[in-house]
Amino acid sequence: MSSSVVLGIESSCDETGAGLVENGRLLGHAVASSMDEHARFGGVVPEIATRAHLHSLTPVVHRALDEAGLRMADIGAVAVTTGPGLSGALQVGLAGAKALAYALDVPLYGVHHLAGHVAADTLEHGPLPDPCMVLIVSGGHTSLLLVRDLARDPIVHLGDTVDDAAGECFDKVARAFGLPYPGGPAIDRAAREGKPDAVVFPRPLTGPRDDPYAFSFSGLKTAAARWAERHRGGVLPVADGAAALQEAVADVLTRKAVAACVRHGVDTLVVVGGVAANSRVRALAQERCGAAGITLRVPPLRLCTDNGAMIAAVGDLLARAGAEPAPHDVSIDPSAP
Ligand code: KG4
Ligand code: ZN
Repeated sequence: MSSSVVLGIESSCDETGAGLVENGRLLGHAVASSMDEHARFGGVVPEIATRAHLHSLTPVVHRALDEAGLRMADIGAVAVTTGPGLSGALQVGLAGAKALAYALDVPLYGVHHLAGHVAADTLEHGPLPDPCMVLIVSGGHTSLLLVRDLARDPIVHLGDTVDDAAGECFDKVARAFGLPYPGGPAIDRAAREGKPDAVVFPRPLTGPRDDPYAFSFSGLKTAAARWAERHRGGVLPVADGAAALQEAVADVLTRKAVAACVRHGVDTLVVVGGVAANSRVRALAQERCGAAGITLRVPPLRLCTDNGAMIAAVGDLLARAGAEPAPHDVSIDPSAP
């Protein structure tokens, strides 16, 4: 019988990830990040990310295999992120995945990056209940999704950010506060010493007439940057600003996500993506889900940010559902919806 081990490859942004999954179980994974190389530019530089993927892809696959105690010949299928993401970065991952699938004579599955983030949680907490509400919050996305069977049913896209993603807001405000890139973890750390009510930042699109599924973080970003500007020449109370910003983002995200669950009669909320690592987002989501009788699922930190295991998890679901593998001429879709 052929192996059912699925190798997942992720290269949509600045992380090169490889993961191995069999029957919903994570066997091993490895990630290499080019984050440090982008830090002095204050954001991801596509050309640098592309070269870093080329450099890291093969070593990362071998590290994942070593961690799982497997050999190349044990791989029964390859899954790869085809989009959305940076064009050059995606091409490196897809070219590598195609070559491996061809050489090993195994099926290749193209995976939507966001489906990967959703599936990440299954590696820790088992299959997702049908239906469940998923809040994806990363550097590029802030979306509310109604998910049924990941391998069979299309994901219902309820709403998105109309401007900046929540992670982008953290990254840009951190810059205005003089904190390092990536800003999310830096804001999270700085906020530990701050008072969340020292300043109150706006809660955009939370009024009764606003779209309940839409988010907006650009006004919040500007408000926080202006607040920082007002302290120019003096001492900026960074910890208080960080705590207040984090409070505003966590408040908006969790309020809307819980309301969406209630409106759709869904009793499980899954929060995924890099910003799901935020300590205040996690705590407030837990508090509000608890009060509304909703079960909260958040993958462990290492599976929240971009990785190959989450792509392997989707490939594994597709393979087990008997989905059609990708054609030989499959291409990337950088702006996949
Ligand atoms: O999912 P991810 O690794 O990559 C994208 O697909 O974007 O998310 C990265 C984003 C960055 O904006 C980063 O600042 C944010 O997640 N992030 C955090 C935290 N850890 C990472 N934001 C807030 N608090 C954190 N602890
Ligand atoms: Zn991501």
